[in-house]
Amino acid sequence: MTSREIIRLKITGSTNSEALEAGEKGAAPGTVVVAGSQTGGRGRLKRSWLSPPGMGLYFSILLRPDLAVEDLPKITLAAGLAVCEAIESECGLFLQIKWPNDILLSGRKLAGILTETGAVQTMTTGEKPYVVVGVGLNLYSPEGGFPAELREHATALSFHTDREISADTLLEACASSIEKVMRRLEKGDFAEILASWKQRDATQGKMLFWVTPQAKKVFGISLGPDADGILHIRDQAGRIHEVISGDVNLAGKIPA
Ligand code: BTN
Repeated sequence: MTSREIIRLKITGSTNSEALEAGEKGAAPGTVVVAGSQTGGRGRLKRSWLSPPGMGLYFSILLRPDLAVEDLPKITLAAGLAVCEAIESECGLFLQIKWPNDILLSGRKLAGILTETGAVQTMTTGEKPYVVVGVGLNLYSPEGGFPAELREHATALSFHTDREISADTLLEACASSIEKVMRRLEKGDFAEILASWKQRDATQGKMLFWVTPQAKKVFGISLGPDADGILHIRDQAGRIHEVISGDVNLAGKIPA
């Protein structure tokens, strides 16, 4: 039984914003903010996250990792694995991950994770940064189904499991799993974490396109993440691209 603080909100803008604010005010690591709905739920790459009431689990956990600044990006992959493992063991499913941390079920997105760092301005003073890991997990489809732009790409847990879905149980399972993986990361176990991540890699060896931060499209084969978690793609000319940010998607075939 953990003694974490759980801040429960019926509605908020974004649980990540709430958790970042709590971090700024000195809240303890492990503090969770969970909301029934979000009016400004946000995702990676400035996207929004659909967060109506009764559809999903929307929460953020505050972490104060004992990690060097250069190791902080590893949290993104580690958190994806942790959430995957928690849902798998609660629901008896096997999930996949699309780099860096989209959680897929039957090829569609079940959950998304947004990792944000606070106290960046104090890093030079030696103060420990804090990190917020925000998780959006589709439990049910929205009334009337997913909106047109998500219909082909999103899924919900209720389509895939006969087990009773308890948002509270999933919340605690995910939060504990994230804390556990953080302890492994702090001990220097990233290689093992990455090995488990790679077992769930949805794109390894497949043709992808990467939209670079400059909005250029690079097509190539995914070679999977390297020892630091940076994704490598080999393009048609044999060049290797290191993907640190941006988005990758499966490409059905090589463009003419
Ligand atoms: C993504 O797939 O782009 C990440 C989506 C993360 C959404 C969650 S919902 C809870 C938390 N609060 C937010 O505003 N975003 C994250």
